[in-house]
Amino acid sequence: MLSEGANELSYEIREIVKKADQLRALGKSIAWENIGDPIQKNHILPDWIKNIVAELVMQNDVYSYCPSKGILETREFLAQQTNSLGGVQIDAEDICFFNGLGDAISKVYQFITHTSRVIGPSPAYSTHSSAEAAHANHEPITYKLDPANNWFPDLDDLYNKVKYNPSVVGILIINPDNPTGMIYPLETLRRIVEIAREFNLFLIADEIYINITYNGSKAYSLAEIIEDIPGISMKGISKELPWPGSRCGWVEYYNRNKDPEFDKFCQTLDNAKMIEVCSTKLPQLAIPKIMGDPRFKVYREETNNNIGKRSKIISNILKGIPQLMFNETNGAFYNTIIFRDGTLNHKQKLKIQNSAIRDLVEKWISNEKQLDKRFVYYLLGAKGVCVVPISSFCSEMQGFRVTLLEEDEALLTKVFTDIKEGVIEYLAS
Ligand SMILES: Cc1ncc(COP(=O)(O)O)c(C=O)c1O
Repeated sequence: MLSEGANELSYEIREIVKKADQLRALGKSIAWENIGDPIQKNHILPDWIKNIVAELVMQNDVYSYCPSKGILETREFLAQQTNSLGGVQIDAEDICFFNGLGDAISKVYQFITHTSRVIGPSPAYSTHSSAEAAHANHEPITYKLDPANNWFPDLDDLYNKVKYNPSVVGILIINPDNPTGMIYPLETLRRIVEIAREFNLFLIADEIYINITYNGSKAYSLAEIIEDIPGISMKGISKELPWPGSRCGWVEYYNRNKDPEFDKFCQTLDNAKMIEVCSTKLPQLAIPKIMGDPRFKVYREETNNNIGKRSKIISNILKGIPQLMFNETNGAFYNTIIFRDGTLNHKQKLKIQNSAIRDLVEKWISNEKQLDKRFVYYLLGAKGVCVVPISSFCSEMQGFRVTLLEEDEALLTKVFTDIKEGVIEYLAS
């Protein structure tokens, strides 16, 4: 009954929760380092934002459907924001809302013909790599992000993969990146645009973290660098507001008029939304009111500074372990930490006092081939810290992803000290 592509659908960021919940049932308390939800990590939205939403909730028209592509005034507001960057110019017709960016991601790959491929980064946020692989019934085609070079993309690898894979029709950029926290340098983005031009490709940029940068860094938007190449920018409010429960994201189409086939593709995405009627309305109404408020910029700067401070705290705890490759992050709110080759094996362990928990972890690892999953399960059982193995992010490297979200500094320090002690004990066992 199932298509082959069905095997490509997995989401370890939530799969791992099932295991953590089993441990919780045995009395273990868990520090949730798996999911990029600031609210779940004790972030409190300012009252002025909540008041805007509260006022909207009292208006009767908020409860109706909205236009399929989304509220016109909101699309005009967002188009104006993009246009003010001074790059590619769009209007409200070039924007379509979705039920969270996750919804947009699955539709974008779904409507590309099976034999055409979009090359994406490795490691990668698995919603992209899984959806792309599921559409093609094949494993993802990827370019390397290099942990030995600040996680920047290996552009020679990208160029060669594109050159020798005539099926590639597009390049995916996730900027700032999940899971590495890397920001694509301007010259790297320009080179990717050149590669797209040389091979007649379109670009997809997932920019859900575009305004989440810190430690003096800035992320350049696709709109600023794309010139006349067709492309889609993906944006949303799950991270930036943050309001992940709103299920609200949108795509911006760039240079539709430069390529009739790309234009048809954009029309298809709009049509796909139309047959669903529309996306969530309340958050769309809130966007211009919140993002257009002068307090939003100040709020975002403060929130970014706090993430930056946490990046330093985490760096001070985890950098300098010789068996790990560690890069301090500049954007988004994740870090990917890699075990150097040859440092992991199938015999390593962490001490777990509680015998029921120990038995369960040993059961999980008994058939586990991925060495990083083995570490992650032991860390969960021994220290109660839930991280995500990096082999689940479309990567052959062994490591784990953490978040930079814990707002309680004492708890953050404790959790990352536990991770450090877990790593050291595991590697020495
Ligand atoms: C890079 C990236 N894109 C998209 C999403 C999904 O966002 P949404 O909550 O809008 O579906 C996430 C969520 O973690 C993400 O990290």
